[in-house]
Amino acid sequence: MLKNRLGRTGLEVSQLGYGSMGLRGPRTWGQRVVSDEDADRFLNLVLDSGINLIDTAPDYGISEQRIGQFISSRRDEFYLATKCGCDPIQHVDHLETQHVWTKEVITRNLETSLSRLRTNQIDLFQFHGGDAATLQREGLIDLLLDFRSQGLIRFIGVSSSLPYLPALIKLSVFDTFQIPYSCLAPQHHDLIARAAESGAGIIIRGGIAQGGPDAEIQRPALNDIWIRAKLDEILPPGMPRAELVLRYTLSHPHCHTTIVGTCNQQHFADNLAAVQAGPLPENLISEIHQRIAEATGEK
Ligand SMILES: NC(=O)c1ccc[n+]([C@@H]2O[C@H](COP(=O)([O-])OP(=O)(O)OC[C@H]3O[C@@H](n4cnc5c(N)ncnc54)[C@H](OP(=O)(O)O)[C@@H]3O)[C@@H](O)[C@H]2O)c1
Repeated sequence: MLKNRLGRTGLEVSQLGYGSMGLRGPRTWGQRVVSDEDADRFLNLVLDSGINLIDTAPDYGISEQRIGQFISSRRDEFYLATKCGCDPIQHVDHLETQHVWTKEVITRNLETSLSRLRTNQIDLFQFHGGDAATLQREGLIDLLLDFRSQGLIRFIGVSSSLPYLPALIKLSVFDTFQIPYSCLAPQHHDLIARAAESGAGIIIRGGIAQGGPDAEIQRPALNDIWIRAKLDEILPPGMPRAELVLRYTLSHPHCHTTIVGTCNQQHFADNLAAVQAGPLPENLISEIHQRIAEATGEK
């Protein structure tokens, strides 16, 4: 699979990464629960396909444990990105996520993640949100730099969105930014470019727009944009809608990788094929861009 340099980290990451939120297991949220057997098979399939970036978080139920349990024996085949600032509360039947910006929580996140992931080092440790003023005031960026000097993590990043992103970019301390983006949710298009121009690596999430109009778990707000932009009129014959969305995301000049989540083998195979097919033709990109701009009222 084609690899891109993840900004100043210098890591060569596969264009398609893997978002492991769907492996969160029972008593979390959502209706679908992936079994241990399927999680094992899927994580190994991800690596077999040439994907070398896996994203997880302490907020994703047993996702970290499963990565540790099923693929830590293949640790040299992938870069591991997890998150911090997470203080989830496990209720009897569901997981309540909350973010707490203290040194105590972040230190605990690191210790727990290293243990669950069965590794000595996290490649990319990302704040799971947060605003620039709080992260600085609480000394949390310095804390991550200290973890880095101890060799416990290699790079520091942040997963963020508007309105917090511009101030975080200005800090000029992050090696990577994880940012939501797709043709159906294009709000961060220009900020992605600004973040990349600061030298940081760009990890896009939501790059397949949660599966688009054909998703098993429907997202009416995104579907509505597809309909209003009349994208069916320009969908090339035979191309699945999710492919159009994913290849549009890959066409963003600063998309170094997109961590698509799926726990469906057919979808996974389709996504690999979409990546192989490469970015969309220029004229189709412009047409989609124009139609979405008109439908959403954004430039
Ligand atoms: N704040 C944060 O930091 C944050 C928030 C959200 C997510 N994330 C990270 O980003 C990753 C991806 O985020 P996301 O799940 O919101 O966005 P996404 O990757 O755009 O959407 C994933 C959804 O798309 C469906 N899908 C994937 N390929 C498909 C295909 N070919 N056809 C139809 N449906 C398809 C999947 O369902 P199937 O299983 O049915 O294929 C899944 O429900 C997460 O796993 C997580 O690592 C981070």
